[in-house]
Amino acid sequence: MIRSVVRGFGAALPKRVLTNKELEGMVETSDDWIVQRTGIHKRYIAGEGETTSSLGEAAARAALDRAGLTPDDIDLIVCATSTPDNTFPATAVNIQNRLGIHHGAAFDVQAVCTGFIYAVTTADAYIRGGLAKRALVIGAETFSRILDWNDRTTCVLFGDGAGAIVLEAAEGAGSNDDRGVLTAKLRSDGAHKDKLYVDGGPSTTGTVGHLRMEGREVFKHAVGMITDVIDDAFAATGTTADDLDWLVPHQANRRIIDASAKKLGIPAEKVVVTVDQHGNTSAASIPLALSVAAADGRIKQGDLVMLEAMGGGFTWGSVLLRW
Ligand code: UT7
Repeated sequence: MIRSVVRGFGAALPKRVLTNKELEGMVETSDDWIVQRTGIHKRYIAGEGETTSSLGEAAARAALDRAGLTPDDIDLIVCATSTPDNTFPATAVNIQNRLGIHHGAAFDVQAVCTGFIYAVTTADAYIRGGLAKRALVIGAETFSRILDWNDRTTCVLFGDGAGAIVLEAAEGAGSNDDRGVLTAKLRSDGAHKDKLYVDGGPSTTGTVGHLRMEGREVFKHAVGMITDVIDDAFAATGTTADDLDWLVPHQANRRIIDASAKKLGIPAEKVVVTVDQHGNTSAASIPLALSVAAADGRIKQGDLVMLEAMGGGFTWGSVLLRW
């Protein structure tokens, strides 16, 4: 059977770092509060000339370099983002153009913090269905541009960045020993919209709007939803937490990551954490974390890796893959 195998990975961050100390001068907050409640020490903020597509392009080029491929080898680009350059065209098409690709297809998926899980699942379906051979799957965000910088309950949490992987069609035996995506579980439930949303949009206010979140309410649902979709992925493949080499979670809050891993019986040394360095970069957080852990040699070829996320919508999901 056809499997979608990770050939390369890459990441890109804006130049400017924003520390908790600097935030103390902007809103009524403290480094202590932010570290204790979230685990975040710093985040990166896009400056002039840095956009979702420029960060996405840089991450994509890094992933292509690692894979030993050129833009011409790509026939599909799926970009997960909630902070597109424009209402349309899709940021994926802007990235395609920046890469000088004029063939194949490119489109965005929008599932907020679960975007990269949705994007990997979509690209995997295209590859297994024979619609594409080599896909760039990108998570790229500039959340700093939709934050209310006077709202201390949200502006300290998010950051900007991008990550990308190249997925390539390869023949597998159909067993859990195959490299590539082994299973994916996607969920959504719009009844939770008011807990995490942006208060603007083309067909409502005609403005971009700002992020609004009832953090405590999101937190209450997060661990249960995350562990449910991970258990679903284990059940679908007949694997258990003991089989995992790495859990690479969406990086929203250190406490959510720790509580989810504990509930699943996954030891802390198998969990990749980057929220301390990047803050919450929404759809970019998982490919950024994957890139960090693969570049420093923690994630190696053949490792069993669980990805998971939960966010606005609500949306939530998991992907189990062998690296
Ligand atoms: O990625 C998409 C999914 N998003 C998430 O997963 C986020 C989920 N939620 C969270 O991570 C947490 O709920 C937060 C980090 C947002 C907040 O942590 P919390 O432990 O739930 O705190 P809280 O909202 O219950 O607030 C505790 C106190 C409040 O004061 P009172 O009402 O107890 O007097 C807040 O007003 O902390 C106050 N507070 C702050 N204090 C200093 C809220 N924001 C800040 C701040 N600095 N930045």
